[in-house]
Amino acid sequence: NTPKKPDIQSIVDRIKNGKATRIVVLTGAGISTGAGIPDFRSPTTGLYDKLAPLGLPYPEAIFHINYFSHTPEPFYAIARARHPGNLKPTVTHAFLALLAKKNLLHFLFTQNIDGLEQDAGVPADKVLWTHGNWKSQHCYKCKAHYPDDLMRKAIGAGEVPYCLQDECGGAVKPDVVFFGQSLPIEFEKRQKEVLEADLMLVMGTSLKVAPCSRLPCLVREGVPRILINNEKAGDLGNRGEDVCMFGTCDDGVRRLADALGWREELETLWAD
Ligand code: OAD
Repeated sequence: NTPKKPDIQSIVDRIKNGKATRIVVLTGAGISTGAGIPDFRSPTTGLYDKLAPLGLPYPEAIFHINYFSHTPEPFYAIARARHPGNLKPTVTHAFLALLAKKNLLHFLFTQNIDGLEQDAGVPADKVLWTHGNWKSQHCYKCKAHYPDDLMRKAIGAGEVPYCLQDECGGAVKPDVVFFGQSLPIEFEKRQKEVLEADLMLVMGTSLKVAPCSRLPCLVREGVPRILINNEKAGDLGNRGEDVCMFGTCDDGVRRLADALGWREELETLWAD
């Protein structure tokens, strides 16, 4: 007897009968495209396909600390379009808040810097912003803090803000993790949350960037992993217990909410 391949219904049953109570989630740019921030790698719509006019050696250089240290202008040329400003969380963010409200969210790893998880109501102690967040900024060189109002002005004008300390002259950088920089020290420690998971949900990420891309591999054998994404990502789908839901994250979480009988609660939470 070969065991039945899990489907959405079997995942829903697992949650409903209390077999999945420690859900670990990994998210990426695809959960925020619905809020109006383009992702990085989707062909034509993603940021990396639009950077040719900036003359970068390769698209990811725009977020590389070595490149930024001598040429910060390209980053500030696109900063306004990616700045969270007054964006509204998507229904996917609200679904994460609902998981937390139901005490089912064991931990959330987000690669996003927009802070929309917290805006949606996910408690901060349940989230690790693996790539930092865009809520503060420092001089990349001397690490001096730079005021929020001046930063907003610079971003609005598309100009590079420079350090206010005498004779420093370093460019100011938001406190987000650039390529070539370390992840928050908590990342190492928090990987244990994945080992404790009894369900993993991966949403809106191409899983092209390490070390986050490796988190789904840490899930114990036999524990289901769900992918909600426009396309295949990483090794999701390769294990017998994986479930892939292709399409948008917002559609995917609504389907799950329908099957769980949570739809009304989800929409109400999102509207609030
Ligand atoms: P990517 O742009 O690499 O991947 C986004 C994924 O989400 C792709 O697989 C898309 O097909 C999918 N997608 C887009 N919109 C979607 C939607 N509405 N519903 C479902 N799927 C959707 O973004 P990340 O994986 O987050 O790091 O990228 C990881 C890191 O690379 C980023 O944190 C950033 C970037 O360079 C740094 O800059 C350090």
